[in-house]
Amino acid sequence: MKPLEIKKGVYWVGGIDWDLRNFHGYSTQMGSTYNAYLIVDKKIALVDTVKHYKFDEMLERIKQVIDPSKIDYIISNHTEMDHSGSILDMLDIAKNAVIVCSPNGEKGLKKHFKKDLNFKAVNTGDSINLGKRNLNFVLIQMVHWPDSMATYVPEEKLLLPNDAFGQHIASTERFDDEFGWDRVKNEAAKYYANIVLPFGVQVNKALEAVSGLDIDMIAPSHGLMWRSNIKDIIGCYKKWANNACDKKAVIVYDTMWHSTESMAYAIKDVFEEKDIPCEIRNLQASHISDVMTSVLEAKYVCVGSPTLNNGMLPSVSAFLTYMKGLAPKNRIGIAFGSYGWGGQSVSDIENILEACKFEVPVKGLKAQWVPDEKELFELKNKIKEAIK
Ligand code: FEO
Repeated sequence: MKPLEIKKGVYWVGGIDWDLRNFHGYSTQMGSTYNAYLIVDKKIALVDTVKHYKFDEMLERIKQVIDPSKIDYIISNHTEMDHSGSILDMLDIAKNAVIVCSPNGEKGLKKHFKKDLNFKAVNTGDSINLGKRNLNFVLIQMVHWPDSMATYVPEEKLLLPNDAFGQHIASTERFDDEFGWDRVKNEAAKYYANIVLPFGVQVNKALEAVSGLDIDMIAPSHGLMWRSNIKDIIGCYKKWANNACDKKAVIVYDTMWHSTESMAYAIKDVFEEKDIPCEIRNLQASHISDVMTSVLEAKYVCVGSPTLNNGMLPSVSAFLTYMKGLAPKNRIGIAFGSYGWGGQSVSDIENILEACKFEVPVKGLKAQWVPDEKELFELKNKIKEAIK
């Protein structure tokens, strides 16, 4: 339960949630952290708190640095309760602390807590002097809530952007270079795909707003802090915010008696023949939040379901609902599926892919009962034609 001094007088005092496996439907196989930061100057600021059940852990870390009753400011960069859930407990100890948040943050916290606390609402350009250091605030609305805000400490070249640049990783390591770029990037990609993806326009605005800042550390509210791969992760965010896809494919399907599965593997063969990297995601084996990580950079999104009860399988429907909400753009969609009679699943999938504003270059890729070699050959030819 040690705090970690990440800059002179700036401490990580968060909580580590080793057991977290589900974050409102996002599968978090690696757990997570709720990162809170204590800045000790003439005035003392706590930037964000932790989920309510990690309050004692955070408090124990704070106590090793200062008397927590001395905290002057609690900066609430974001209302969601994984970061604000310990504010009231903290105020029981730091009774005179001012809650600093965006105007929307103030509205949200009042709604959550049903209390009018000692709020100081700030906007972009506002700052608070702590002594040697200043806290400058930048509103980053809809990255990913209307209240979201980043705090910048110019004297430390430190950006505290809350959820932005986060990853759901529980670890004893605190920095990107200790954990390894590939592993951190993969979880940052999953985080982006499942939390931030709908807000590309706002991410670009936020990147623009912080582009002039001198930054040598980005300390998000989940996972590892960035000190060695700052340009790389900002580059990734630019790519993802602009829906810049790679020439890659993901084939997502569920199957009843393996007929739709055989179509999925025939489609995979076409991408292989064309040297287009391709992932197969059986929804019985893959969580939809992992499938979205595959979708994040894939140009081609192929979705297959047999027909059941005049529609698609519920697993495929759930995935499509989830993906539509996350709103990936600039994709090519392909629907396919087997059927016994009726065969409505394929047109239903096509309709949703079109509602996602995907280009759907080929339609009606159905096979009755069990596709034979000739039918699979014809399917492959149609896919080849569609993706050439
Ligand atoms: Fe990590 Fe939007 O809360």
